[in-house]
Amino acid sequence: IKTIAILTGGGDAPGLNAVIRAAVRTALGRGLTVWGIKNGFGGMVENKMMQLTDESVAGILPRGGTILGTTNRDNPFNYPQTQAGAVIYTDMSARALNNLRQAGIEALIVIGGDGTIKIAGEFHQLGLPVVAVPKTIDNDIPVTERTFGFDTAVGVATDALDRLHTTAESHHRVMVLEVMGRYAGWIALHAGMAGGADCILIPEIPFNTGSVIAKIKERQQRGRQFSLIVIAEGAHALGGEISIARIVEGSHEKVRLGGIGEKLAREIEELTGMESRCTVLGHVQRGGTPTAFDRVLSTRYGVAAAQSVLAGHFGIMVSLQKNRIIRVPIADIAGKANNITPEDELLLAGRAIGVCFGD
Ligand code: F6P
Repeated sequence: IKTIAILTGGGDAPGLNAVIRAAVRTALGRGLTVWGIKNGFGGMVENKMMQLTDESVAGILPRGGTILGTTNRDNPFNYPQTQAGAVIYTDMSARALNNLRQAGIEALIVIGGDGTIKIAGEFHQLGLPVVAVPKTIDNDIPVTERTFGFDTAVGVATDALDRLHTTAESHHRVMVLEVMGRYAGWIALHAGMAGGADCILIPEIPFNTGSVIAKIKERQQRGRQFSLIVIAEGAHALGGEISIARIVEGSHEKVRLGGIGEKLAREIEELTGMESRCTVLGHVQRGGTPTAFDRVLSTRYGVAAAQSVLAGHFGIMVSLQKNRIIRVPIADIAGKANNITPEDELLLAGRAIGVCFGD
C-alpha cells in the first residue's frame, strides 16, 4: 500500500487531531502518501480532499475539533441531495469509492463513533480496506474500554460541578447539572463521582424522583442546605416519559436528547420548596483541548491504526483492552452498545456512598 486516506465522522471529540497527527506521522515515516477527506463521509462523496504532510499536522496535538472537519449527517449509502427544492436520499457509495480509486487511495482510516464505524464496515464489505478508531465523549462504543474524548468531557463536567458546588452552597440551592452521553451514563457517573455529587442519575437505571427528594431532605436535616445532582441527558424517571425527541428529515431520523435536567429541577423545587437551578453543559464538553490522558490514548490509537494498515489488517477497529491496544473485527461491535452494568465497580462505589440509587 502506497496511498491512504483519513476521515473523521460524527460529532467531534477532543483528541481527534491527536489521532490524525499520530496516524499521519506513522504513515509518512513508512513512505506512504496520506490524504485527508474533508467533512466526513460527505467529503468522500463530493471528492473533497487535502494532502496531509508533516507540516499539516504540526502543532495540532493539543487542539480541539478536527482539522479535517466533520458532520454527523452524511451517509453515502443514504445520501441527501436537493432536487427541485426537495431533499431526496440516494445510494452514493459507488461514487464515493470511485473518488478514492481515482486518487489512488488504497485504504481508509475512519475515526468516528458507532454510526461512522457502521458505515466504515459497509464500505469494507464492498472491498475497501478499512481501519476504524473509536471516538466519542460518550464512551458508549462496545469492545473497547475507552474511547478518546471521554476523559476530557469528564474533566469539563467535573470542573462544572466544582463551580456549581460553591454557588449552590452560598445560595442554599439545589443545582442540577445535565451532562451529555446519549443513552449511556458514563460521563454522569464518572463526573458525578469526581465532583462529589449527592445524586447521580443515569439512563441505565430509571430513577425514582422520591429517592432524589428523600436524599435532598436527609441532607437538609443534617444541616446541608444545598445539593448537587448530576443527570445524564438520556436519563428518565421510573414510569416517566423518556425525554427523547425524534426529528425525521426525509428517511433520516435524528435523535435529540436533553431537557430532563430542567424538568427535574422544577419538580425538586415544587416538592422541597428549595430553590433549584439547572445547568445544561452541552457542547462545551466536546470542545477545546484534550486532557493528557486523551492525547496519549489518541496518539496510541493513531499509531496503531496506521500500523494496522501497514501490516495489512483491515475490517478492524483499534481498541483498548486491559491497557493494551488490540484489534477487534468491526463486525464485533455491530448492534451492540457499551452501557453501565449493575456490576460496574464505580456504580457500586456510588451506591456504597449513597449517591447512586438502585431503583
Ligand atoms: O455523541 C456525542 C454527543 O455529544 C452526545 O453526547 C450528544 O447527545 C450528541 O452528540 C449531540 O449531538 P449534536 O452535535 O448533533 O448536537
